[in-house]
Amino acid sequence: MLNESTAHYREMIEDATRVMSVHFNKAIHFSEMIQLSEPDRRNVVLRLLIDNPTTEMPKSLILKKTAIDKKKFDTSNDSETEIEQLSRFARDWAGIEFLEKIGSTHAPRFYAGSMEHQYILIEDLGTSHPSLVGPLTLRASFENAQAAEIALAAYMTRLGKMHADTMGKVSLFNSILKRIYPQAKRVHYIPQPDESKILEQLKLLTGDESQELKKEIQDIIEFATSPSDFNVLVHGDICPDNVYYQESEIRLIDFEFCDYGNALIDGVYLRMSMPSCWCSKAVPNTVLNHMELIYRTELKKAVLLAGDDYIYDKQLVFACAYWVIKALQSLHEMKLIENEWICGSGPVDADSEWKPEENAFRPRILSRLGAFISCATKAGHLPELCGASIRLLAYLKKNWPETKDIDLYPVFRDEK
Ligand SMILES: Nc1ncnc2c1ncn2[C@@H]1O[C@H](COP(=O)(O)OP(=O)(O)O)[C@@H](O)[C@H]1O
Ligand SMILES: [Mg+2]
Repeated sequence: MLNESTAHYREMIEDATRVMSVHFNKAIHFSEMIQLSEPDRRNVVLRLLIDNPTTEMPKSLILKKTAIDKKKFDTSNDSETEIEQLSRFARDWAGIEFLEKIGSTHAPRFYAGSMEHQYILIEDLGTSHPSLVGPLTLRASFENAQAAEIALAAYMTRLGKMHADTMGKVSLFNSILKRIYPQAKRVHYIPQPDESKILEQLKLLTGDESQELKKEIQDIIEFATSPSDFNVLVHGDICPDNVYYQESEIRLIDFEFCDYGNALIDGVYLRMSMPSCWCSKAVPNTVLNHMELIYRTELKKAVLLAGDDYIYDKQLVFACAYWVIKALQSLHEMKLIENEWICGSGPVDADSEWKPEENAFRPRILSRLGAFISCATKAGHLPELCGASIRLLAYLKKNWPETKDIDLYPVFRDEK
């Protein structure tokens, strides 16, 4: 089964064979191994076919092995430390095992994992990978736009259900993550030491430096750091390609950036044009409103306060502010004021209208600021950061005269 180029996986595959034999209580062998990941991806994903499976066994499994981050889609040039890499792996494992343990089907089934060999064995969701990238990047037409809305509705429903199902279960998640890797780094918070850097950036670009602005930044840090009634398992990288979309069913994959945090950090992904993703574009407002309603309807089944407009809108504004702060950080780290940056693109179908050469970063910053300004103004929260964002947006538009707001996903480009 192993050839020259895959011989280095021998020990890992032998280990996986042992582990799965114990799991199924029967000696198994793998008859074939297919590498699914492209060579420059940060993880190795292998499909392992089980030789002669019994009726209780799946025909194949997915083995995902972590590797040092190659940063293909990432924005910073720093390479990942070993602790960061192992933390990313441990969170992926913990998220999928946790979702299995609570009896949900949001993620693939979890079978086993090995810290020594740094792999997890999970359910194989199928040979082709239909994701949201397909429906969102097709040519614009009435039918295609309708199909994309159905896909987005399935995505928002799944996200809302996952958040609702995971509410109140943080200690189980923590115990799984700690068992896997006690030093695991947590995500979805803004470290306190960043406060002065954020304020410095705002002062430099907009001249804003009031005490009120400082207090608002502290409140946003507090929002992202302290558990609240909206504390659920946040996926953290809920991108169009991190889902499997089959027969109107969505399953979520790739939990490397999952952690407990405020639900709306995921919940505003569409509004903030998919902030952590290479496949980042906007949807028309009517579609956005419909999708957010679908999400909220699911969320409020468990998070009762999500039914209260004032409280919900406040979470929404703070979650958008959280992503604006992340955008401000990338503005600085990527030196975007001086240079545009074209983000790498992942695989797309042959009939996709996605244009990798146009996957620029500056439009994301403009649109995220615009989205925050509009909801903060409407709800009346964070007036100082909103004012600073208005000034920053004007400054950026003046300095980047050729940069426009982010485009709609290709499938929606016919719509006004
Ligand atoms: N459970 C699975 N079943 C089938 N294919 C999978 C599964 N998990 C991952 N893959 C394939 O591997 C690719 C990378 O997996 P992902 O978990 O997203 O890793 P990465 O962190 O490298 O993006 C996916 O886009 C998908 O094509
Ligand atoms: Mg992925």
